[in-house]
Amino acid sequence: MRRIMLGLLLVGGVACGPPVKNTPIEEIPKLTKLSDVMDNQATVMDPLFKKIGQSQFTDDDWAALTAGATKIQATSLKIKDFSKGAEFDALAMKLNQAATDLSNSYASKDATAANAALTTMKATCKECHKKFR
Ligand code: HEC
Repeated sequence: MRRIMLGLLLVGGVACGPPVKNTPIEEIPKLTKLSDVMDNQATVMDPLFKKIGQSQFTDDDWAALTAGATKIQATSLKIKDFSKGAEFDALAMKLNQAATDLSNSYASKDATAANAALTTMKATCKECHKKFR
């Protein structure tokens, strides 16, 4: 039964977007492929990007937002190991700054600030993909 459920999960993962990757934060610096870094980013951020526009966040949302911010702070630094030049690095650091803004929004549970940070993050993913992917 476990096997079947795992199989279904794997098939589902392939069908609905990038592979699910949940590398622990302390292991992020050891990743050897940019695509693995990216899959980690999509795994944590895609569900959070769906929350853009919410005027309030639940405690569970805030926990997920904070975990996402912490993850992206690590992955965005790692992106620079795969540098494609100054503009690429600047986009990685823009993502890093937005992740810090998202993290800071939690202190005062500022939904407006969280939305702004999420919107910037999503736009930065897109901008870099357009230019460098
Ligand atoms: C600094 C540039 C940059 C930023 C910022 C960036 N990406 Fe990427 N991304 C890339 C590049 C380059 C590739 C292609 C990597 C490859 O195929 O080796 C890629 C590929 C991907 C992939 C496909 C990975 C695969 O399995 O082949 C996903 C998913 C992804 N990015 C998600 C994201 C998300 C989500 C964000 C924002 C949170 C983001 N990226 C931000 C540059 C960026």
